[in-house]
Amino acid sequence: MAAFTYLIQKVIDSGKCRVPPDYHGPGAEIYDLVQTWQDDLPYYLTWAERQGSPILELGAGTGRVLLPLARAGYRVTGLEASPDMLSILERKLSGEPADVRSRVTLLRGDMRDLCLNSRFCLILLPLHTLSHLLGYQDRLRVFRAAAGHLVPGGVLVADVELYRPEETRAAPPAPVLTGVHYDAQRDSLLLILTHERPVQAPRPARHLELLYLTVDAEGKASLTTTACIEELTPVEELRRLMEEAGLKPVGLYRNYAEEDLREEDPTAVAVARKPR
Ligand SMILES: C[S@@+](CC[C@H](N)C(=O)[O-])C[C@H]1O[C@@H](n2cnc3c(N)ncnc32)[C@H](O)[C@@H]1O
Repeated sequence: MAAFTYLIQKVIDSGKCRVPPDYHGPGAEIYDLVQTWQDDLPYYLTWAERQGSPILELGAGTGRVLLPLARAGYRVTGLEASPDMLSILERKLSGEPADVRSRVTLLRGDMRDLCLNSRFCLILLPLHTLSHLLGYQDRLRVFRAAAGHLVPGGVLVADVELYRPEETRAAPPAPVLTGVHYDAQRDSLLLILTHERPVQAPRPARHLELLYLTVDAEGKASLTTTACIEELTPVEELRRLMEEAGLKPVGLYRNYAEEDLREEDPTAVAVARKPR
């Protein structure tokens, strides 16, 4: 494996390998294959039941959360920046029954510039999407925009990866094999290698390069890559974001069972309400 990852590294360093941003091109195409996380869905359905429609999902991706909500009878708007993710979601939606389709509105746009005529009972920011916003000001724009698009009593739920300054993990020097997936439809094997490097962007962040090595049914291999920068969120910043956006913190939880956050937890579920 060391020799293999060394060779991969040489390919990257040669600059001959095209690196589109994550969630575009190959990153969008394989999203549903690799992103099989479902543990959060019952939690979002519970919040939908508590709050009712309409619901807004920021960074709706390929509909992992949005489609189950619409199938359960809620009216959902999905905002998504990547045209490639959005077109996969549109394709999936076109295969849904008419009543589900009628409950969904899809919009292409940047959540930092959110400006809609509608107000929502619930706004969701699932699966560490906040990490893609770099710097406090961009995050504050999103929290303020979310607050402005909630009805009084409306709720924002964000699933956030936390930054712990005391936790200085050494990034591995070469790509590491982080996933092996068999695509039964195409009879092909997908190996995912992740190469993580610390960067200042302008705050401490990580540069993630994802390498997708596909081996098809004939044994032909192809390599594609995507890259993104992720900036994790200090827990005090989450509190400040809610406060400065005019939202009242409901809870900072360590899991979807709403247990209190502990100091060592790597992720948090943040829930905030717009005052009535
Ligand atoms: C981690 S994925 C989550 C997708 C989906 N919410 C889910 O839970 O499966 C993050 C998504 O947010 C989108 N995204 C990132 N930054 C964005 C922005 N500024 N505005 C809108 N969407 C954005 C990405 O294109 C990607 O589809």
